Amino acid sequence: MDVVVTGGSSPLGRVLVPSLQAAGHQVRQMSRRGAGPGGVRADLATGRDLAAAVRGAEVVVHAASDPRGNPWEVDVAGTRRLVQALDRDRLQHLVYVSIVGVDRVPWNYYRAKYAAEQVLLASGLPVSLVRVTQFHHFIDGMMATARRGPVLIVPMGWSAAPVDVAEAAGFLTEVAAWPAASDVVEFGGPEDLAAADIARAWAAAREPNTRVVATPLPGKLSAAFREGGVLPGPRAARGRRTYAEHLGVRH
Ligand SMILES: NC(=O)c1ccc[n+]([C@@H]2O[C@H](COP(=O)([O-])OP(=O)(O)OC[C@H]3O[C@@H](n4cnc5c(N)ncnc54)[C@H](OP(=O)(O)O)[C@@H]3O)[C@@H](O)[C@H]2O)c1
Repeated sequence: MDVVVTGGSSPLGRVLVPSLQAAGHQVRQMSRRGAGPGGVRADLATGRDLAAAVRGAEVVVHAASDPRGNPWEVDVAGTRRLVQALDRDRLQHLVYVSIVGVDRVPWNYYRAKYAAEQVLLASGLPVSLVRVTQFHHFIDGMMATARRGPVLIVPMGWSAAPVDVAEAAGFLTEVAAWPAASDVVEFGGPEDLAAADIARAWAAAREPNTRVVATPLPGKLSAAFREGGVLPGPRAARGRRTYAEHLGVRH
């Protein structure tokens, strides 16, 4: 298949592109600079070069996102621009990389991802919405950011199911070859873990003299995380590699 990966330069894209190639696909990786092998340049925020970048695509894995900037412009309006740029006669499957909990957690970025899902469901294109949990390295980054000297404060009662990014890429590669689900498919890590346990494991492996303190965090956002808002449902596919394995911890 002729495959375009948007967000090809992302941490996910860097493992997804080789995974799709190993499955026998011709892969173009799209980003704003168009760097890397098979790199094509396009900007979802403006639509610049988009039609040329996706011309002839049979499968699109749409992983581009702007979590730290303007997700309404890049993720939502950008997804609309992508839908308009695609060749409907040629496209067989558009796989959208979303996040478990975008429909439940009242956070601006998640609301934008959910809105992008709705754009795709209404597009009439053959789509699958793959909601994935937090990548191991992303959790590591959160822990490193939250640590203040010898103390790591985590919200009490939050939980997550961290997942290996290469396993997520493998799952997306499988989904790309399936018929469009026209629905949500979930992929999570093997274990549902309390944030405090994640933090203790991370601290023990990476910053051994850190004390983890779990503190209640008020508000609706925190309540959604406490209620398991980012945990996969019972029908979710699950990866195998644990967060402890990622950290290199032996049992
Ligand atoms: N991080 C996680 O734990 C996690 C968990 C579940 C799902 N996801 C989803 O997985 C996907 C990849 O996430 P990630 O954390 O690996 O990467 P990321 O840091 O969110 O990377 C964003 C990607 O989008 C591209 N991009 C940003 N603005 C763009 C624009 N205006 N036009 C075109 N491309 C643009 C970036 O390319 P350039 O900057 O090079 O242009 C980059 O390749 C996202 O959709 C995210 O929501 C992430």
